[in-house]
Amino acid sequence: MRFQAPRGTEDVVPNESRTWVWLEQTFRELCHRYGYSEVRTPTFEDTGLFTRGLGEGTDIVNKEMYTFVDRGGRSITLKPEGTAPAIRAYVEHSLGSQGQITKLFYVTPIFRYERPQKGRLREAHQTGLELIGAQTPESDAEVIEMSVRFYEMLGLRNLAARINSLGSNESRKTYREALLEHARPLLADLPTEFRERCEKNPLRILDSKDETLRERLTDAPVILNYLDDESRRHFEAIQGCLSALDIPYVVDPRIVRGLDYYTGCVFEIHAEGIGAQSALCGGGRYDGLIEEIGGPPTPAVGVAMGIERALLALEVSGAAPAFEPLLHLFAVCLTERHAEFCKIVSQLRGQGIRVDTDLQFRSAKSQFRQADKSGASLALAIGDDELDSGTFKLKRLADGAEFTSTADTLYEDTLAYVSRS
Ligand code: HAM
Repeated sequence: MRFQAPRGTEDVVPNESRTWVWLEQTFRELCHRYGYSEVRTPTFEDTGLFTRGLGEGTDIVNKEMYTFVDRGGRSITLKPEGTAPAIRAYVEHSLGSQGQITKLFYVTPIFRYERPQKGRLREAHQTGLELIGAQTPESDAEVIEMSVRFYEMLGLRNLAARINSLGSNESRKTYREALLEHARPLLADLPTEFRERCEKNPLRILDSKDETLRERLTDAPVILNYLDDESRRHFEAIQGCLSALDIPYVVDPRIVRGLDYYTGCVFEIHAEGIGAQSALCGGGRYDGLIEEIGGPPTPAVGVAMGIERALLALEVSGAAPAFEPLLHLFAVCLTERHAEFCKIVSQLRGQGIRVDTDLQFRSAKSQFRQADKSGASLALAIGDDELDSGTFKLKRLADGAEFTSTADTLYEDTLAYVSRS
């Protein structure tokens, strides 16, 4: 019986995993530059955290959560996103104090029962960050700036943030009504389920994937015309700050996001050429969530970036990095004194040299063949003579050049010849 990875999941095989590690390190480096600390939260949470936090009317809560009852009778959900868990941890451990800013970041798998396609998985991975405790436009701008800088650090160019404002609770309510009134006749021939969802959450109409509906909605009211003065000033100040920071952005009133917790400025960054699922990242301000899940009223803004989509964009743009081989040395065993051979290899490893060997001790020919394939820079052949004399030959695999070394200098010589190869 053979098994495959479950539908909508992917293995990361060895020649891909270095790119993942590099991407995650780049993200960590970015976050450290801006004063963020890492938080790691469990893979599953109480279901209520998400139904309450993300909103009952959202697709994620309605259709996509991996929810089950555990053996203790609790309703458990695999986390479909990282914000609610990070905020739950913030509240649970009192990570912030009144009037102070707390900056958290995370790298996490997320689980959504969606229809798998290119760039859309059932287990996907995100890098994300949450800036908690600040209400200033500069804090929104910093999160947008970090998102753009992240892709720049990865080597992706020409990406602009698409930004929008959902305004205050009051102005959003007025807008929702106006939008629904405009859209109702246009929705008449669409499936009941979709219409019901729109009635519950009219903003969803705007980011519908249905092209005909999108066309019909070209004259729909625009949310930015409904902003109250305070929200408009805030949104303008964010734009002023982004311009000062040289962050490319466009105002796009169709960006409404799929989660209910957003309250002000929202944004996404999209990439071309990676298929229909083109959003590399999404985020925005969510000033009500912390109170909603039991904390003190605290403003916050954040973003999450899809790792798989960033990797797709890197592949398409040809910006994916090439890595040097990891191995320094392949040790070829030409003696029956295996334990002595293993000791030398172990000493080199203990000093930090990356060494591989053939633990099956096959013929010299197959070991040298394996050395060539291994990607190591050097081969070290160890036979009885070498063990007795303490003198060794290092062979540079790229051109066959040989160098003599001794037991005492093997470590330095390996590093010296590796760096010269
Ligand atoms: P989101 O827009 O649902 O936002 O997800 C953020 C990013 O995660 C997307 O832009 C996409 O790149 C990636 N992503 C989401 N679902 C999938 C999937 N099924 N397959 C592959 N990639 C996926 C959030 O999750 C919010 N928590 C963002 C946030 C943080 N807002 C404030 N703070």
